[in-house]
Amino acid sequence: MTDAGRHPKIKLMTLSEVEEVSGYIGNFKVKVRQNARFVDEKACTACDKCAEVCPVVVPDEFQQGFSSRKAAYIPHPQAVPSAYVIDIKQCLGNNPIACAKCMEACEKKCIDLNMQDRVVELNVGTIIVATGMKVYDPTPLDEYGYTRFENVVTSMEFERLICGSGPTKGSLVRPSDRQVPKRIGFIQCVGSRTENRGNPYCSNVCCMNTIKDSLLIKEHYPDTEIYVFYMDIRAFGKGFEDLFRRSKEEGVHYIRGLPGEITEDPDTGNLRVRVENTTAARVEDYELDMVVLSLGLEPADDLKQLAGKLNLSRTSDGFVLESHPKLKPVDAPTPGIFFAGCVEAPKDVKDSVTQAGAAAARSSIILSSDTITSEAIKAVVDLEKCTSCGVCAKVCPYNAISVDVKAKTGAQIVAAACSGCGTCAAECKFDAITMQHFTDEQIMAQIDAALDEEPENKTLAFLCNWCSYAGGDLAGTSRLKYPANQRFIRTMCSGRVAEKFILHAFEKGAPVVLLSGCHIGDCHYIDANHWTKRRAEKLWARMEKLGIRPERLRLEWISSAEGARFARIMSELEEMRQKVTPKEIEHTKKVLTEQRLLKKKAGEREEAPEPQAEPA
Ligand code: FES
Repeated sequence: MTDAGRHPKIKLMTLSEVEEVSGYIGNFKVKVRQNARFVDEKACTACDKCAEVCPVVVPDEFQQGFSSRKAAYIPHPQAVPSAYVIDIKQCLGNNPIACAKCMEACEKKCIDLNMQDRVVELNVGTIIVATGMKVYDPTPLDEYGYTRFENVVTSMEFERLICGSGPTKGSLVRPSDRQVPKRIGFIQCVGSRTENRGNPYCSNVCCMNTIKDSLLIKEHYPDTEIYVFYMDIRAFGKGFEDLFRRSKEEGVHYIRGLPGEITEDPDTGNLRVRVENTTAARVEDYELDMVVLSLGLEPADDLKQLAGKLNLSRTSDGFVLESHPKLKPVDAPTPGIFFAGCVEAPKDVKDSVTQAGAAAARSSIILSSDTITSEAIKAVVDLEKCTSCGVCAKVCPYNAISVDVKAKTGAQIVAAACSGCGTCAAECKFDAITMQHFTDEQIMAQIDAALDEEPENKTLAFLCNWCSYAGGDLAGTSRLKYPANQRFIRTMCSGRVAEKFILHAFEKGAPVVLLSGCHIGDCHYIDANHWTKRRAEKLWARMEKLGIRPERLRLEWISSAEGARFARIMSELEEMRQKVTPKEIEHTKKVLTEQRLLKKKAGEREEAPEPQAEPA
């Protein structure tokens, strides 16, 4: 942090929040609010005189509330810049009658309680998002008594208790009586790997953190009895297993089983832990002086807001979604934005540093070149056909399209910002947008070719490139069997599959059509598959009206890891195909041909319908 603060090419903006982000790769405009520090950070010498006279005492968040701080304070010992900040919510104010003692005490006169926030606009080429994480709040897990028993502490609190710069200067004492605990228990997976009592994922760092803590205790207090209650220890990584073995050799007891209940002896403050030891197949009780809850990690509080401003997708866990888990693990789906650290998933320091290095390198590639190379799959507007209805701009997940609806100047697409999902082309009712390399003509030709002979014996499937098509690939490489009469059409995203492609397939005589993409929340084009879902729902309603069974159009989300599911769905489609009668197919062909001709007659220029609901 100090190095970053001193680096001539790094400008640290502390106490700052991103308010707005616009633009695209190579040309982002970021509006940043710099909250007032109320202290001139360049003049402040951190002499501590302001804090000495400040009468306000509040719990110190950095020390997890084990000690207090003043309203004039330095957030933590390594803070950069090393200057005081005034906690204005707690400050009694600059009215001399109320207080203003810090202003009198400051010899350098660097305190200004009337300082205002500043909003600055930055023009940047790339953005790296590294907002970190927070820990799980164990309050709902009442059986562990975190809110009831003083000697039940979290791993973060324990960290402060054993830290040399902590409230006890590194002396390990338990909170209730300031005595050195002789028996300490660690409970693993608190808030992790559970469906209804926290988060379903493994938080990655907690096992090794406990092993590290147990060795630290053994180093300074060798007589301490340490018990670790665990589901299974995940010590993968260079040297981690050795550390685990060392802690066992030092005498740390590992009990396989998570405690069901903790009770307290009110006279001694000691804790009784009841656990089912699944190795010994018996219920055991342990009397301990102190229990540490090894907490899981969660996305930072403000990540949801920031993701909205940066147009990022998040996984169901709340962390941000990378462009590709293997090939582009530090890239956001929006070009020019990268991730580092726990913003993407829980990870330890080593992995965070590795990812930060990768993000910096990916970023420098862009910044060091005069031109940007991107995929050739881009949307192109035919201004002759464009009516400036604005639908394309509304559905574009990247905000790459702008339309002046009043001036009717036609849709303008920023090629650098377009990622080529094709949702705009699928939604445009005037055929004014062409997707390069996935044009309407090319897709229609594929449908025609697939259903040219014996269409009644075929099933047509539209598969998105990143998930469903890859799922099909996996089914193939896994040698899974599925019917051979299926014909696949690959599009980059399921959002590219326009209504007219599906209707054309039915008009050509397809008994069943599958529309398949990534699971909701996993779309590689942010949220483009929300529009796929909406389009399918509209089509089902329309099919129903025309007397076509809606079940003949199936919508399925298949991920690249679901090869077996892909094969199963294909077999189900075949069963469905066999149930579609020739009469039904004929009826479908007839009504759809009539509809198409009617529309053609009516001049095809219908009013562009507004998308009814924004994707969630
Ligand atoms: Fe698979 Fe969008 S990329 S549905």
